[in-house]
Amino acid sequence: MRHRLKLVGSVCLLIIAVCAMAFAASPSSSPVFPVDRELFKFYPSLMVYEQTKAGFTEPETCAGCHQKQYDEWHGSLHSLAFIDPVYQGEYNKAVKEVGSGISKHCSSCHTPAATVTGEIKGPGLSGLSAVAKAGVSCDVCHSVSSLHPCKTPSREPQNGSLALRPGEDGKDGPVLVKRGPHKPAEGCGGGFHDCRQTDFHAKSDLCASCHQVFHYDKHYPLEATYREWKYSPYAQKDIHCQDCHMVGHDTFVKAADSMTKPQRSDYRHYFNGANYLLYFLASEAAKKAGDKDQAARLMHQYEMAVKRLQKAAELEITPNYRNGRLAEVKVRVKNIRAGHNLPTSLTNVRQMWLEVTAKDEKGTVVLTSGSLTKDGSLPPDVRKFSSDGMGSDMHFAIDPWVVTAFSSHETIPPKGYKDAWFGLQLPKGSKQITVEARLRYRQADQKVAEALLKAVPKDIDLARDYGITKIPILPVVDMTSGKKVLTVTAR
Ligand code: HEC
Ligand code: HEC
Ligand code: HEC
Ligand code: HEC
Ligand code: HEC
Repeated sequence: MRHRLKLVGSVCLLIIAVCAMAFAASPSSSPVFPVDRELFKFYPSLMVYEQTKAGFTEPETCAGCHQKQYDEWHGSLHSLAFIDPVYQGEYNKAVKEVGSGISKHCSSCHTPAATVTGEIKGPGLSGLSAVAKAGVSCDVCHSVSSLHPCKTPSREPQNGSLALRPGEDGKDGPVLVKRGPHKPAEGCGGGFHDCRQTDFHAKSDLCASCHQVFHYDKHYPLEATYREWKYSPYAQKDIHCQDCHMVGHDTFVKAADSMTKPQRSDYRHYFNGANYLLYFLASEAAKKAGDKDQAARLMHQYEMAVKRLQKAAELEITPNYRNGRLAEVKVRVKNIRAGHNLPTSLTNVRQMWLEVTAKDEKGTVVLTSGSLTKDGSLPPDVRKFSSDGMGSDMHFAIDPWVVTAFSSHETIPPKGYKDAWFGLQLPKGSKQITVEARLRYRQADQKVAEALLKAVPKDIDLARDYGITKIPILPVVDMTSGKKVLTVTAR
């Protein structure tokens, strides 16, 4: 009897011990997202550098033989990615608030080559090489030798998860190797570089690891453009990022509408997106520096971005009658041509919203929603299609090192729509009302933009370089609009 009790006791103790061990082990030694620190030497960046004696080349050298690609790229957001004053302001804040450990995370996407070589020490531009200032340059994309989405913490492309290999150690010294989607022809590289074909340069996979921004440590997807695209009708029809962003305006519209791929000769290095504000600021800076050609390129990009935004969406106004009387207006916003959600990327910073007004036949305003206040803010009850970020304390937050979740996420899926409802309180005697709706977009809230531009590092002088002495009211683009006359009693 005593013997048996002792045995039961020991078994219980053993179970408790095993459970206790498992408990103690679970939070620290088996995290959900383990990081391979041997592979990811630049963590929190997930970029890999396959170092040889062959170094990185600045875009001006590539321009010697590829002038056309250079002229298109120069003036793209990729060429501005590191010198962008808005980026530098936020980067400066990040390093001040989190410490220098976060620097590689930001700079590996905004200037990859100079990050892996160790040239970038922190915010600011003085003393940097042409390669560093060129941001996402020719030699970044054309040195990508492999992608490793399956090895990242959450097993998907994110935070710069690609490998850079600008060349090889040859018998007689370093040999530059540039990679692209085409089978190299005789003499490819003109004696300056070797050529190699990859299976990913013509696909969204090349863009994925930078266009999926996860929280640097908590792995929360702050920007998920690639993922939104991957689960869209475009991916199923083989329409990739390049087919809308590496072509001119008309070709993009055709690719989005007909789901047909552009011709090989249609591809351009514009990487044109939505950020008309930055193209505009940069063109002002180019004008101040006396570079008329660059100012013109940037204004061309500015116009393409505005036109692109104006092709992205459509809206539809319909009435809703209750007991025979007009009670509500429904505005449906359709994402007809963005290959990902609308808007995408920095959805908790970009703003896209509806402005709706309705008047009766006497001109009495019966509804207004979404008009900017005098100081340039959005009213609190606005119907917007972006997201709000929050920190782990569940308080509103904007900065990407604080945001670990979205408290609302209202972006519109590709070839999908969202409805907004507006209740009406109609004066007695109104017979018909005219509803006007506009879908509006801007890069950021007025106060957010002001705070960011105030945080630029000391060697960027906004007045000297950009001619900005006071942050102007941010420009708003009207993406689309609609107007409809509705009768107050149902017919
Ligand atoms: C963000 C990535 C990226 C950057 C930056 C980039 N390229 Fe490309 N490049 C591509 C992709 C993707 C293709 C394939 C598209 C296509 O079929 O033309 C390509 C194609 C090319 C080609 C093949 C010919 C052609 O135009 O189709 C050349 C040459 C080239 N790039 C040179 C350059 C040069 C020079 C620069 C810098 C001035 C540059 N690239 C910057 C991604 C990039
Ligand atoms: C995984 C790649 C990646 C990482 C890491 C990353 N970014 Fe970015 N960043 C992007 C991309 C892509 C965009 C463009 C999104 C767009 O314009 O819609 C962008 C845009 C921005 C912008 C907006 C610029 C403008 O002119 O409006 C700011 C500011 C910015 N990033 C700051 C940072 C800071 C600070 C960090 C580090 C805490 C960081 N980024 C880390 C890829 C990255
Ligand atoms: C001395 C001239 C010369 C220089 C400098 C040069 N290239 Fe090339 N490159 C060529 C020639 C020639 C071809 C083959 C014809 C073509 O596609 O334009 C080529 C082809 C390419 C291709 C296409 C490969 C494919 O898949 O078809 C890429 C990508 C490329 N170069 C990138 C670069 C980059 C990036 C630089 C700068 C680091 C650069 N080149 C500098 C001459 C040069
Ligand atoms: C090495 C990282 C990297 C790669 C690879 C990359 N991008 Fe980008 N891209 C960026 C960054 C960073 C920005 C934002 C720069 C800024 O706003 O300061 C950007 C900006 C853009 C924009 C402009 C967004 C806007 O708001 O207007 C477009 C469009 C774009 N990229 C498309 C592409 C496409 C298409 C590919 C693949 C062919 C690609 N990118 C590959 C880092 C990258
Ligand atoms: C069917 C065409 C199409 C495809 C495919 C497509 N885009 Fe876009 N993209 C657009 C349009 C239209 C806009 C402007 C509306 C908007 O901001 O979403 C845009 C905007 C953007 C922006 C700026 C977002 C913002 O609001 O600041 C980025 C960054 C971008 N695209 C990257 C990508 C990447 C990366 C891919 C591939 C994973 C891709 N796009 C695929 C059409 C496309």
